[in-house]
Formats: sequence, C-alpha cells, structure tokens
Amino acid sequence: MSFDFDTPLELRAGHCQKWQGIGNAMAELSADEDCSNILPMWVADMDFAAAPPIRAALQAEIDRGYLGYFGVTAPVSEAVSGWLSRRHGWAVDPGVIRYSHGVVAGFATTIAAFTEQGDSVILFTPVYHTFFSKLRAMGREIHESPLLRREGRYEMDLDALAAALTGREKALVLCSPHNPGGRLWAPDEIRAVAAFCEAHDLLLISDEIHMDLTFPDIPFHPTATAAPEALPRLVVLTAASKGFNIAGGETGLVIIPDENLRTRYEASARVMGGTPNRFGMAMTKAAFTDGDEWSAAVRAYLAENFRLWQHRIGALPGIEVMAMQATYLSWVNFENTGMAVEEVRSRLVRTAEVAPSAGHAFGSGGECWNRFNIAMPRPLLEEAITRIEGAFSDLQ
Ligand SMILES: Cc1ncc(COP(=O)(O)O)c(C=O)c1O
Repeated sequence: MSFDFDTPLELRAGHCQKWQGIGNAMAELSADEDCSNILPMWVADMDFAAAPPIRAALQAEIDRGYLGYFGVTAPVSEAVSGWLSRRHGWAVDPGVIRYSHGVVAGFATTIAAFTEQGDSVILFTPVYHTFFSKLRAMGREIHESPLLRREGRYEMDLDALAAALTGREKALVLCSPHNPGGRLWAPDEIRAVAAFCEAHDLLLISDEIHMDLTFPDIPFHPTATAAPEALPRLVVLTAASKGFNIAGGETGLVIIPDENLRTRYEASARVMGGTPNRFGMAMTKAAFTDGDEWSAAVRAYLAENFRLWQHRIGALPGIEVMAMQATYLSWVNFENTGMAVEEVRSRLVRTAEVAPSAGHAFGSGGECWNRFNIAMPRPLLEEAITRIEGAFSDLQ
C-alpha cells in the first residue's frame, strides 16, 4: 500500500497548534500578527494524515456512538506489548503498562512520586524544553549535565557529571532517542548511564517517545533491553503519539517493570485520577496492531526529507546540520555564521518566514541553535529550504 505524504493538508484551521499558534509562540512576532505565509517548523507534529487503520478505529468509536469513560485496558496493553516485542525486541508483561494523559503528565507524575521539592533532577542538555518547565513548576532543582559534541554528535560526560553532583540528585532523565539532536544512544552508553544511576542511587527515567522514528534499518535500543540491570530503578515513558502522529490523543505509556516502583507511581497517579482518553486508547491500539506498513513508509519519507535538508542547508557556509538517526527534529547550529542569535532568528522568522524552535529553550548549549521540524510534505520542505537559502544568501 502506498501513502500520500506529498499533498499538503489544510492545517491553518482545525485547532492545529503547530499551524495556528505561531504568532503566540515566536518571540519575534506579536500574537495578532498575520502568520498566513509562515511555515511552522516548531511543534513536534507531522503534517501528515494519520494511518488509515488509526482513522478507521476512531470511526468505529464514533459509529458505536458510546463515548463514556474508558474501561478494560488489557487489549490495548496486549497491543503495546506486541509492538514493543515485534518492533524493538523488548518483551514487556502487558500487566506492568500504565497510562497517562500524555507523556509529559506521566513524567510529572513520576517526578511527584519519587522526588521531593528541592530535590535535583539530572538532564543532559540541550534537551526537550518541557522537562525544564515541568521541573521548575514542581519546585525541583535542575542539574544540567552538558552534552559534549564529538565528531558532530552528542555524547554524555558521566565523569564530569559525577564530579559535579551535589548530593541532592534523586533522578536522571535519559531522552532516548535524543530530542533535539536525533541521536540514538548505543547499548554501551545506556549501560554506562544505568551503572551511573546504580552508583549514585538515582531513579532512571527513560523518555522513549521517539522510539518509532528511527530511520530505516536503524534499530532502536530500549533502555530495558540494553541495560536490564537497570530494571529495579527504571521508569520508561513512551507512546504511539510521535511515531504515528497522534499526539492529540494525549495518551502516554508508563512502563515500570519493578513492582515496588510501580506501586509508588500508582499512588502518585491516583492523586490526579482519571481514566484513559478513549480516543487516544483506540488510536494507540490500532497503531500498534496494524500500523507497521505506515510506520515503515513514514520513516522512509522522513529519512529522505532529512537527506534533502542536510544536503542543502548543511551546504550553507557557517551552518551546521547535526547528523541524526531518529526523529524529524533537525538541530542546526548557526554559531559559525558569526551572527548574533537575534539576527539569525529575525532572518529565519521574518525574512525566510519559517518558524523553528529557538535553541535557548533546550538549556545550556542550545543558545546558537534552532530546532527545525522537517516532517512536512516534500514540496513544502523544499519551499522552506529555498526561503532559508535566500535569507542567508550573503553568507560566505
Ligand atoms: C522527549 C519528549 N517527551 C515528551 C513529549 C510530549 O509528550 P506528550 O505530548 O505526550 O505529553 C515530547 C514532544 O515532543 C518529546 O519530544
């Protein structure tokens, strides 16, 4: 079966945050500004229609007509477990899977369960910006461990981290695959993180939401399989939402193999209450049961988008596109253009009329970077590239 990722959808209506929230989100614009010519490259959604089996599953919910509280999660957990084993070689007991209203809510519930106000949480920065805002809102200290850049890719510096520990750290967050930067951590790196957590008695929170977005033929290594020794201290957060473009379903998976940890998580989750989102659950089950073909097709499309993007944007003098093996979020360094950060942002947003995420939000080390979402129909991507080339045509 072939899928049409090339034809743009009409997304400037229909409550699409990525397309309709540009004016509010970009510091360079005012909220009431006309953004109708700006191509959004910020929010991590793809500009593609969801897979046919997912849409059919939603339609079946509508046709049944009953839209009450969701119950009996077991068939969804079976589907999740089937996918994790089939796609990622991770055999998960369906009984240990819990559901949250999105991965970030699962993250916050985990932080509430295992840490106290004033405790410190380790982030390898630059990293997904919402970790910062959640931790701050919850009164947790953030211990930033700067990623090193070696041969064009990020690496963790666990020796420097060990030397910088304050004693207040209670948890460490691994973003795997890494957002931004699109790096896949190798099994030996994951094992080193597990050993570090063991040595310093830290909870290991592995956010694997981008697990299904590796480029073709590149395997993803779940933390649980790369470092099974970490299971007694491991919380895995993941979802079908990124890989299948169904984030509006707000359904996160919280996988905690250790029973004691799971009990603590559940106590924290009870405070928030709530049954899973009916539509998110239907979509998750359909994605993980019948989504294989669409997933393979979208990953191939994204890899080709990245090839094109890297070929042209990476050729601009002074602009470095970080190599990536996963996600559709391309991390681009403007430091060697010699331009001030504000000048770069103005050229991108005002001159080129593209709207990437500004790098400073991802923590220290991100200041001179921008994160571009390239999950768009190829004609639109080519348009975005041409605009950026035009806005920086004076670079030598
Ligand atoms: C690493 C990471 N975690 C979590 C999320 C958001 O998850 P959710 O929308 O399910 O809360 C994102 C979104 O881009 C992400 O990149």
